[in-house]
Amino acid sequence: MAKRFEWWDSWIEKKHKYATTDEVQMNEDIFNAVCSGTGLPNISQKSTFKFNDVADGANRFLGMSPSGEKPFARIYTRLGNPNTEYLEKVLFQLECQHIIDNALAADETEPTIGAFVFASGMAAISTTIMGFIQPGDAIVVGNVYGCTDSFMRYLQKFGIAIHFVDATKLDEVQAVFDKHDNICAMLLETPDNPTLNLCDIKAISKITEANEALFIVDNTFCSPYLQQPFRLGADIVIHSLTKYVNGHSASIAGAALGPYEYFSNELFFAYKDFGPTPSPFDSWLNSLCIQDMGIRMEAQCKTAYKLAQFLEAHPKITKIWYPGLESHPHYTLCKKQMRSGGGMITFEVEGGLEAGERLMNFFARPDTPMELAVSLGSVISYIEHPASMTHSVVPEEERLQRGISNSLVRLSVGTEGFTVLRDALDYGLSLN
Ligand SMILES: Cc1ncc(COP(=O)(O)O)c(C=O)c1O
Repeated sequence: MAKRFEWWDSWIEKKHKYATTDEVQMNEDIFNAVCSGTGLPNISQKSTFKFNDVADGANRFLGMSPSGEKPFARIYTRLGNPNTEYLEKVLFQLECQHIIDNALAADETEPTIGAFVFASGMAAISTTIMGFIQPGDAIVVGNVYGCTDSFMRYLQKFGIAIHFVDATKLDEVQAVFDKHDNICAMLLETPDNPTLNLCDIKAISKITEANEALFIVDNTFCSPYLQQPFRLGADIVIHSLTKYVNGHSASIAGAALGPYEYFSNELFFAYKDFGPTPSPFDSWLNSLCIQDMGIRMEAQCKTAYKLAQFLEAHPKITKIWYPGLESHPHYTLCKKQMRSGGGMITFEVEGGLEAGERLMNFFARPDTPMELAVSLGSVISYIEHPASMTHSVVPEEERLQRGISNSLVRLSVGTEGFTVLRDALDYGLSLN
C-alpha cells in the first residue's frame, strides 16, 4: 500500500539517526546562550524586496537564495522576512541543536527539520494541519486548548474524523489506533490544559510511528526550556509564542517545526497561500523577548514550585495539580521528560466555584500583584477560570469528563517573587 506521506520513510530514518536522544534536555547554559544569541537584525518593516535584475527575481521565485537566506524569503514578506527568519533560526536551535550537531557529525547534506513562524499559535496549528490533511483522514486529539478543540471540530465539516482521547492513558491511545486505519496524525498538549496532566511523549511516539501517523506536540506550556519533544520522538512541534517566548504579553505569534520535506514543500505552499505570516515587528519583538526566556522561566518555575507546596498545604485548597509535586499522578514522568514542574498551577478552593470566584475577583483589583486574565507565560501572574473562559467552547459534558470542573482555578506564575505572590494568595483565600 502507498504511504500516506511519501516522505515518511526518509523522515523516520533521519528522526532516529539525529532527533531522538537519551538526553532529554539541552544544557541550561547553552540554552541561555542560544536564547541571548547575537545577530538580532534591525526591523525590516517592509512588504516587498527589490531584485537586482529580472534574472535575480526569477531565480528567487525558483527558490534560489544567493545570499544564503531561506529559499523564497526575500521576495515578499508573506513568504518570509529577515526578522521572521531570524526568529525561526533561534527556535530551531532551541528545539533542534542536537539534531544539527548529529547531522553535521554524520556529514548529512539534506536538512532534517524545517521551521515557520506564524501570526498566532492558532495559525501555526491550523496551517500545519491544513497543509497535509485530506478528506477521509482521521486525527486523534488529546485534551487541548479550547480554540484548538473547536478548530478540530470545524475540520469535521470537510470529512475529517476527529477522535478525542485521554492521551494520558496509553491504552486509550492504542485502542483508537487499533480501531481506525485512517488516522494520519495525533495532536496533544503536555502538560495538558488546565488539568496539567502529562502525556508520555516517548511511549505515544512508538504508537503513532507504528501506525504511520504524524505525532504533533503543542509545546506551548513548556517552551523548549522545559521540554524538547523531538528528543522524545515527536514529528512536529508547535508553539504559541504568545506565551513563554514573548513572556510579556506584548504580541500574538506561533511557530511550527517538523520534517523538512513536508515543511519545504506542502507546508510552504499552505503558508504562502493562506497567509498566516507574522509582521516583521512582531518577529523582531519576539526575537528580543526570547533573549531572556531561559532566566525568566527558571525564576517562574522556582516560584511556581514553592507556591504549589504552599497551596498544597493551605487549609482552603481542596485539590491542586502541579506536575512537580510528588503528589501529582505524573510526577515520575515529569522528572523524566521535563526540566522541572513548570510555571502553571491549577487548584480548587474550598467552597467551589463561588469561593474561586471571590479569589479571582480579588486579583481583578489593581492593587494586587496578579491580573485576572487568560493567557500565560508572562512576567505578570495571571489567574483565570477555565470553565467560563479558556475552555468555555468545549461542550460542557466533555469538559467535565476531562476533569475541567466549574471550580477549577488556573494560575500562571510570573516573576513577581514567591513571598509577594504567597502573601497575596493567602490574603485572597482568607476572604472566603
Ligand atoms: C496550548 C496552547 N496552544 C495554542 C494556543 C493558541 O495560541 P495563540 O493564542 O497564540 O493563537 C494557546 C492559547 O492560549 C494555548 O494555550
